[in-house]
Amino acid sequence: TTRIAIFASGSGSNFQALVDACRNELLDATPALLVCDKPGAFVVERATSLDIPYFTFAPKSYSSKQEFEKHILSELKSYEVEFIILAGYMRLIGPTLLDAYKGRIVNIHPSLLPAFPGLDAVGQALSYGVKLTGVTIHFVDEGMDTGPIIAQEAITVDPDETKESLEKKIHKTEHTFYPKTLQQIFANKGEAVIK
Ligand code: GAR
Repeated sequence: TTRIAIFASGSGSNFQALVDACRNELLDATPALLVCDKPGAFVVERATSLDIPYFTFAPKSYSSKQEFEKHILSELKSYEVEFIILAGYMRLIGPTLLDAYKGRIVNIHPSLLPAFPGLDAVGQALSYGVKLTGVTIHFVDEGMDTGPIIAQEAITVDPDETKESLEKKIHKTEHTFYPKTLQQIFANKGEAVIK
């Protein structure tokens, strides 16, 4: 089994789906820790209900990203975390974590990258008027949603689509696509897909 830390900032529906997949043995991984940069986020309540240890922190109470990432790193070490899985963690990963977990940080993004990186990818896709969007799973590098792509799944934007309906479709796809893809990565120990 691969010991993972899931990083999230918000509602945590992907966090929930990943923990469920581990418990249903669809994903051979152990959710060792939730890392959350928003102490009041709903994902923390999910972690409590699911009995998953969590580390929450307020970035503003540190002098720099390097300082809070050092703190995160010491938590990851004490929980013997092997992979970092970003699930709606709305913050760029800095050199402290990138160097320690090179090739072992994965992100999910709600668009077909390189289209619509950054914040509000679903809103960006709708305003642009694309007829096809989707979900991308990729390795994390120092850029904003720029690392090597591992897998993508396309989703049709219907003529009467609203932001709510599109978000719903994207989430539904993410909740099965993320565990499935991570299972493939862990089965390869990351090797086959890391460039
Ligand atoms: C997900 O749709 C994820 O793809 C997106 O945030 C949402 C989190 O939802 N991530 C990004 O936009 C990263 N740039 P959740 O909290 O319900 O899992």
